[in-house]
Amino acid sequence: MVVPRDVAEEQAQVERKIEMGRRPLCFAHRGARAYAPENTLLAFAVAFDLGADAIECDVQASRDGRLVIIHDALVDRTTDGSGEVARMTFAELRALDAGAFPRIPQRIPTPEETLALARERGGMVNLEVKGESAAECAETARLCVPLLRDLNEALRTRVLVSSFDHAALAEIKGRLPWLRIGALFGKEWQGRDVVGPARKLGAEAIHPAAQLVTPELIQRAHAAGLRVNIWTVNNPRAIARFIAWGADGIFSDYPERVVIAREVATSDVGRPLAGGER
Ligand code: G3P
Ligand code: CA
Repeated sequence: MVVPRDVAEEQAQVERKIEMGRRPLCFAHRGARAYAPENTLLAFAVAFDLGADAIECDVQASRDGRLVIIHDALVDRTTDGSGEVARMTFAELRALDAGAFPRIPQRIPTPEETLALARERGGMVNLEVKGESAAECAETARLCVPLLRDLNEALRTRVLVSSFDHAALAEIKGRLPWLRIGALFGKEWQGRDVVGPARKLGAEAIHPAAQLVTPELIQRAHAAGLRVNIWTVNNPRAIARFIAWGADGIFSDYPERVVIAREVATSDVGRPLAGGER
């Protein structure tokens, strides 16, 4: 059935409204890393169980050009192995136990496994392109292109790619103009304009460190058509404050804290009794 253009546009508007209405989106940082070994399928599954809308995960390249989900440049902190991710083969990385904390055996996941899980759970994925150098980030971004290009329509809109390396983001966006991009900004951006660089990249969102965020920054980003997804916020009071300021997304190691704060902010569940009410 061919959907008339105006009906299709209406459907798209409804979808946009639904997404915008759910604010802020809850991004489970490296999965529900407060409860399960970070960047593992277990952490991602638990995150969705806790009500996260999206999982955030870090993608790097192995020595033999395969993609893996792991945060550090070294495997030492999160696995039972030792060495640099970029100097190990995919097979070596997959043989490690990534269930370091808490101790639950897990494998280092692939992006494909992560995307399949998100699809099964009806959730979104934020893939953060990582690397120790600009060259490593560029290589990881290059390896992500075929994976992202082959995503079906249902998954394309659910994937958001971010990176601190804006050149890698520009490269990937140049190859896949439809891709949703989030520009990451660390504390070193304090006092500098982050809206301009994000707009130049064609990003849909800025991903600032919590320390950079003020109500004015959120207003300026919104005025420029950018969403504001803030990392990494674990303190319930800070989560509530960013919600009140109009954040569009919050990354947390405790996804349920964002879910609860959002519920409190957007409904009158548990409101104090008004005078005379019993
Ligand atoms: O994407 C937000 C956050 O994950 C960036 O910092 O070091 O946890 O990857 P990091
Ligand atoms: Ca990350």
